[in-house]
Amino acid sequence: MHAVSRCFVTRALAGGALDRLAERHETTVWSGDLPPTPEQLRSQLAETDPEALICTVSDRIDAAALDAAPRLRAIANYAVGYDNIDVAAAAERGIAVGNTPDVLTDATADLAFALLLAAARRLPEAIALVRDGGWVTWEPSRDLGAAVHGATLGIVGGGRIGAAVARRAAGFEMTVLTHSRSTETTFEELLERSDFLSLHCPLTDETRHLIDDDALTRMKDTAILINTSRGGVVDQQALARALHERRIAGAALDVTDPEPLPADHPLLQAPRLIVLPHVGSATVTARQAMTELAVENVLAALEGAPMPHAVSP
Ligand code: DGY
Repeated sequence: MHAVSRCFVTRALAGGALDRLAERHETTVWSGDLPPTPEQLRSQLAETDPEALICTVSDRIDAAALDAAPRLRAIANYAVGYDNIDVAAAAERGIAVGNTPDVLTDATADLAFALLLAAARRLPEAIALVRDGGWVTWEPSRDLGAAVHGATLGIVGGGRIGAAVARRAAGFEMTVLTHSRSTETTFEELLERSDFLSLHCPLTDETRHLIDDDALTRMKDTAILINTSRGGVVDQQALARALHERRIAGAALDVTDPEPLPADHPLLQAPRLIVLPHVGSATVTARQAMTELAVENVLAALEGAPMPHAVSP
């Protein structure tokens, strides 16, 4: 007989792996259609008193949340990024933290490329034109887009998703420049040379508002910014200004700060802007695999073993 622990899961997750967890451990899944608010999360944690938590990017796991769950030993984030978790506070309390790397790399890289193509070829305007009955004739020079084939793609971040985007760019015979701690291309050079700039770095104190007024001013006025990393990497007020002043040609964001972005947020008034509701990993395959990894992390930690996909503080 194995020891039965209590687990709290903040959303119903894709795939069958949660059933596997529930077969072995007492598992409570938050039943709301929306994620728990911070207050609801704290009260659920206090009520269920879990040893393991599976949470998503919508859940802020800060010291106050951790204090509400004094028996917690394991946190499995249902994401590769883990800026929503105070990892240092978890480490101080001896709580292991894990994430879901690799399995969402291709889905996210595909979406980054979809955004790049959509922004370059102005798909939102074209779709709206047809839908709104404005397609009167074939136009020789209206709403012309930017060539993707042979253009220069700048990638910020030396991780798996950036590398996967670079592989896709090879098919379009693009010149790829990468800026990371281990590459020689400077950030300034990347900004100045890129026709498309795609962000693939984690959100840290170092990268918060990396794309600010100065960075946007250095970019070509024909350049397009793509962000599938975290909203906080971009200073959104600076981005709105740059788009209104036509200092860059467009932006396509899968992530914003905050999420969701309120419908009346001033950024949404900016021209040549695409915003998606954080769907980078939203394929059946990726989301099911993410559930598998989160459950593997929890099962290992509850057995006293290291998480297979651990995050280091
Ligand atoms: C991640 O994994 O970090 C994504 O943003 C959510 O899937």
